[in-house]
Amino acid sequence: MDTTSRPPVVDFEQHPLRGRFNAAFFGAMEPVLERDLGPRKRRVFADLPRDVVELGPGVGANLRHLPPGASLIGIEPNRAMHAGLRAAARARGITLDLRERSAADTGLPDASVDAVISSLVLCTVPDPAAALAEVRRILRPGGSFRFIEHVAADPGTATRAAQRLVRRPWAWTFEGCSCERDLEGAVRSAGFAAVEVERYRLRTPFVPFNPQVAGVAWR
Ligand SMILES: C[S@@+](CC[C@H](N)C(=O)[O-])C[C@H]1O[C@@H](n2cnc3c(N)ncnc32)[C@H](O)[C@@H]1O
Repeated sequence: MDTTSRPPVVDFEQHPLRGRFNAAFFGAMEPVLERDLGPRKRRVFADLPRDVVELGPGVGANLRHLPPGASLIGIEPNRAMHAGLRAAARARGITLDLRERSAADTGLPDASVDAVISSLVLCTVPDPAAALAEVRRILRPGGSFRFIEHVAADPGTATRAAQRLVRRPWAWTFEGCSCERDLEGAVRSAGFAAVEVERYRLRTPFVPFNPQVAGVAWR
């Protein structure tokens, strides 16, 4: 597909205050998130090739999980994340090709990459189905999408009520993030050849941040 002849999809609103807050927040929270999510990340991101595409890399929480000498195409529309991400890539010796684009429209050619990764991003993109269709489009047959997400709790549970309660302030603070998405269902219905998903709960005071899913989808 020729993705160069039309203007890129712009589905992210730059916000000077929230953008900077989120860059600082995810930078500061990185050790905590790594403590809690690190074991899953090590499993899901195991044996990545040297060339990887990441959706919404933020300030680089996943760089430590890339192979030594990796090259990363970072699809990150939030300009406030860019300086931190560039610095983190330099510090880790990762070659970074940073693109201010949406996960729904990476601008990469069809069937051109072997691995796409993301963590805590499908909860935030405006249209997860469009982002997943884009992942499938750019992956080569046999390529993999490795993901970690927080998802909607079961209806009728206290956690689901908490997710409902914080809906608006959470979305405002975290730039569109929703705790009420069935992202396992979204990945399973995105047309991948095979999907493996683990569902789990973290021990965290951030109640709406549970449950979570970690998995791999093969093209
Ligand atoms: C919760 S943060 C997670 C950052 C990082 N992946 C991590 O695990 O720390 C969500 C990230 O998704 C990015 N994002 C938001 N909308 C996006 C979109 N439409 N396409 C790609 N990334 C997006 C945000 O800028 C942010 O970096």
